[in-house]
Amino acid sequence: MIGRLNHIAIAVPDLDQAVRFYRDVMGGHVLEAEDLPEHGVTTAFVDLGNTKLELLYPLGEASPIAKFLEKNPSGGIHHFCLEVDDVTAASHVLQEKGIRLLGEPKIGAHGKPVIFLHPKDCLGCLVELEALN
Ligand code: CO
Repeated sequence: MIGRLNHIAIAVPDLDQAVRFYRDVMGGHVLEAEDLPEHGVTTAFVDLGNTKLELLYPLGEASPIAKFLEKNPSGGIHHFCLEVDDVTAASHVLQEKGIRLLGEPKIGAHGKPVIFLHPKDCLGCLVELEALN
């Protein structure tokens, strides 16, 4: 069911500084930052060729990233994202196997449906699934 690694997301306390780090220090290809109000984040992707890094910065009052940064003030790995053919179909299969979903599928940073899986059911990792199409 799962396919390729789509991205690894890193919560950052300062997005400009994070962009400068990956662009100027690491010499990476950083794409333009984008606000995703529905997810409570501003994201900037670093295109690595075989996969991406997603730099995540809180947006709005109820951002899930704000809580993470309270616990991890210097930032850190927040989630990773695996590709599936169909997010809704994959969610149903996983739910039948006892994996809890966090909310309903939403449109993610690339305009494709995404869903998050409960970390307690995924070896302690927050896992995002993103549709291929
Ligand atoms: Co993500």
